[in-house]
Amino acid sequence: MTPYFEDLTPGTGCRKPRAWLNTPRISLNGQWTFKLSPGPREAPADVMSPEFADDDWDELEVPGHWVLQGYDRPQYTNTAFPFPIDPPRTPDANPTGDHRRWFEPPADWPLDGAVLRFEGVDSCFKVWVNGIEVGAAKGSRLPSEFDVGAQLRPGRNLLVVRVHQWSSGSYLEDQDMWWLPGIFRDVSLLARPVVEDVFVHADYDHRTGAGTLRVDVDPSYARILVPELGLDLAAGETVTVSRVEPWTAEVPRLYDVRVVADDSAVELRIGFRTVAVVDGLLTVNGRPLFFRGVNRHEHDARRGRTLTMETMRDDLVLMKQYNVNAVRTAHYPPHPAFLDLCDELGLWVIDECDIETHGFIYTDWRGNPADDPDWAPMMLDRMRRMVERDKNHPSVIIWSLGNESHRGRNFGTLASWTRDRDPGRAVFYERDRSYEFSDFYSLMYTPLDELERIGTRTEDVTTDDPALEARRRALPFILAEYAHAMGNGPGGLADYQRILERYPRLQGGFVWEWIDHGLLLPGATDYVYGGDFGERVHGSNFCIDGLLFPDRTPSPGLLEYKKVIEPVRITLSDSPTIHNHQTFATLSHLEFVWSEEVDGMQVNSGTLQVPEVPAGSATQVALPEAVTAAFGETAGAVAPGLQGMEPAGERWLTVRGVLAKDEAWAGAGHEVAWAQFQLPSRPLGNRPVVPSPVVRRGDRVVVGAGEFDARSGELVRLFGVPVDGPRLDLWRAPTDNDNGQGGNNAVVSEWRAAGLDRLEHRVDQLEVRERELMVRSRVAPNGLGLGVRASYRWMALGEGLQLTVDVVPEGEWDATAITPRCGSWPRVGVRMALPSSVEYVRWFGGGPGEAYADSREAARVGRYECTVDGLQTPYVVPQENGSRIDVRWAELTDAQGNGLRVEGAPYFQLTARRWTTEDLERARHHSDLTPRDHVYVNLDLAQHGLGSASCGPPATPQHTLEVAERTFTLTFRRSTPVASTHKAPAPQP
Ligand code: GAL
Repeated sequence: MTPYFEDLTPGTGCRKPRAWLNTPRISLNGQWTFKLSPGPREAPADVMSPEFADDDWDELEVPGHWVLQGYDRPQYTNTAFPFPIDPPRTPDANPTGDHRRWFEPPADWPLDGAVLRFEGVDSCFKVWVNGIEVGAAKGSRLPSEFDVGAQLRPGRNLLVVRVHQWSSGSYLEDQDMWWLPGIFRDVSLLARPVVEDVFVHADYDHRTGAGTLRVDVDPSYARILVPELGLDLAAGETVTVSRVEPWTAEVPRLYDVRVVADDSAVELRIGFRTVAVVDGLLTVNGRPLFFRGVNRHEHDARRGRTLTMETMRDDLVLMKQYNVNAVRTAHYPPHPAFLDLCDELGLWVIDECDIETHGFIYTDWRGNPADDPDWAPMMLDRMRRMVERDKNHPSVIIWSLGNESHRGRNFGTLASWTRDRDPGRAVFYERDRSYEFSDFYSLMYTPLDELERIGTRTEDVTTDDPALEARRRALPFILAEYAHAMGNGPGGLADYQRILERYPRLQGGFVWEWIDHGLLLPGATDYVYGGDFGERVHGSNFCIDGLLFPDRTPSPGLLEYKKVIEPVRITLSDSPTIHNHQTFATLSHLEFVWSEEVDGMQVNSGTLQVPEVPAGSATQVALPEAVTAAFGETAGAVAPGLQGMEPAGERWLTVRGVLAKDEAWAGAGHEVAWAQFQLPSRPLGNRPVVPSPVVRRGDRVVVGAGEFDARSGELVRLFGVPVDGPRLDLWRAPTDNDNGQGGNNAVVSEWRAAGLDRLEHRVDQLEVRERELMVRSRVAPNGLGLGVRASYRWMALGEGLQLTVDVVPEGEWDATAITPRCGSWPRVGVRMALPSSVEYVRWFGGGPGEAYADSREAARVGRYECTVDGLQTPYVVPQENGSRIDVRWAELTDAQGNGLRVEGAPYFQLTARRWTTEDLERARHHSDLTPRDHVYVNLDLAQHGLGSASCGPPATPQHTLEVAERTFTLTFRRSTPVASTHKAPAPQP
């Protein structure tokens, strides 16, 4: 007989799916006794019996995953099933966890009609109460309920749950994430549900402002009360209220509702809103939406997919703070409480079903459950359980049928059932290129040119069927996933945003993904990822691809995203213009403050008077007089008398839109949007200096503050301090995006083939001239004919030592018989080693965080200060990081402020760390990095862009650092005491 974990039934003994309702319950979370067996055959046969002795069992925290509590180990594969593909069979090695728990409901608690509820068990389980089997279920991220009134008795009761890691259901659960078995969401005992089910239909008519409400209830004699609207209606009755405040993610207006039947009541919060696809656009309340979204997995570094309420709220608060307005619950329904929070805080939600059969790519889709009618009941069961559970959330506007399961007839069954059951929402499925069952056209990781074609409706044909093709072409487009946030990146967010905002058909996108899935196992300090257990099949660090680090610290990618998706834009023509890019709300929640800075020091500030700006429109505001003068000059209209009055130095105007008062997700003063504009500046008036003569002193050549080795031409001391370098550097520690996806699309292969990771330096000539030292060298890898000529020209100018580097490529950079063409360099600049006493970095330039050519929107011009250690971005897999962009000058000093000042002409890119690029490249985890006794500083003219080729397009031509002749100049000085600076804050909103 087929065991229940291998059959094609969704479950046995399960109650009908229904809404998640807030009714009296006893939590059964806590410590359970636990035993893990290697497979079902080895599991104890009489475990359900109250007489069974489990005294020698361990305790396990429920909810939780046993693999994160010391049993077996977690496993990460990306697409591959970690068992042979032979649906619906499972391997003998099917870890089976027995969980037992005695509990005693209070004496007055009604046992009759009680329901046992599991919010999520991965992947299949059977339940016994007091030795009697009550049922079994599959569908890991979905609730299951069992009637247990008949089995319960007053006093102590025994609950036994047997969980199998693998089941037929696992073939539907091949999402790109850790395999984490267990009872990972809450377990509770519910009193007999008098109000069994509720389905709220609350529509909003944007033309009249009226709300229409109908609440279907089981039992149908229930009454519905909405005190705030003075409503008391019967179940199934439709009422229209002439004016209601609608729910939107921007203004998440909720109304309290009580559903009363007999002596029992449930409370819920509803929102009036109408979802419709009209003329090829997704609209809510009559207006087309625009998603600034993220894909969110449930992840906690220690607890896996078991999330606390605080963690769920933290996620949403962070999303709101970072201007995210939409979340796709990739790739399964989240804990139900998460959706309550989305209703409350305001986010648009694509609720996705727990279906992904991705691993069937390895059979070329032979046997794909999605296209096999035998699997239809199991798939439909999942859809029903999601829709029924989540149907009352105003935040949920789209039902997704699942992810990456190819084309399959069963999706047709799911879509028609869903449309029938809930006509009030749209249906989404991305992976079927006919889009037959979807209300959207959608893709992932689309290159920019293709996105542009979709915007202009000139994209390629995707299906042979002319009728389906015509239908698809009329659909709105959503970028379901893009900008793979793996490691350092994603680059190109601003490029995407420009296109997404340009074409109405493109209704926004969802970055992949919200959080890195790094796990911290008991006692460990490094996050683990695939391969860390020596397993042979694994997905390596492909799931370390979030905008948050595993501890929920925002990564530079999230700061960049926040800036790029600002719902308010501030531009400057002849005065600042405030553009409201929201869909519904005015800007009355914001206050606009300005400040004027000279060389990074604030000299003036104030508040702008901004009138009401309706959604979708813009308004120009007057600047205060103090700034007008200077500003007028920018526009070429300054009053003659004011010319030349501006203070010396670089002048900037910063305008910021901040919350005017506290919101549920951030306090007053929280910054939502900002912009900076350069004002006319008077140069600091450096007078031209005649270079000092070069002096020969024994085996040294002295150029001002620099002492050089007379044979090698190397700088050995600078201001009396021993240094190593500066020397030309073209290499960086490859980022995940440089490495491409599984080696595809990898710019690093080009770089390595050209030997950029193993360059040798040869000094060819030293020319000691009267007022300059010229060192000519050739930098090239062994075994190849390509290389660069690098010359270093040193001059002493007053107190400063000036270096000009000329780089000229020569040889076979274009393809040869054995090397491919190498069209770019990772970086062009110099690297030098300073003493380890260098601890602080102060700079004037872009900051406070790291920035790269195609990820630099969040960097603003200012003065910053940080420790060397604080400059590092802790990517889970160490890789190039920490560069500060557009640096005018930087000072690298010890605790007393003594050290070096470097000035650009005009800018350079700064990286400083206690390990070398090569150390960084070798490291696989943080603990592999140990500080050396130097601080290594890279002063770059430029670096290659980041791109998002770890799963998407590489850096665009515009952000490619091409192999070409380059020249740059740096001036070294002794550091100067600096009065006051902005501390570079930790990356916070
Ligand atoms: C998508 C998939 C995600 C994830 C991502 C890459 O194709 O839907 O689950 O694998 O690629 O990280």
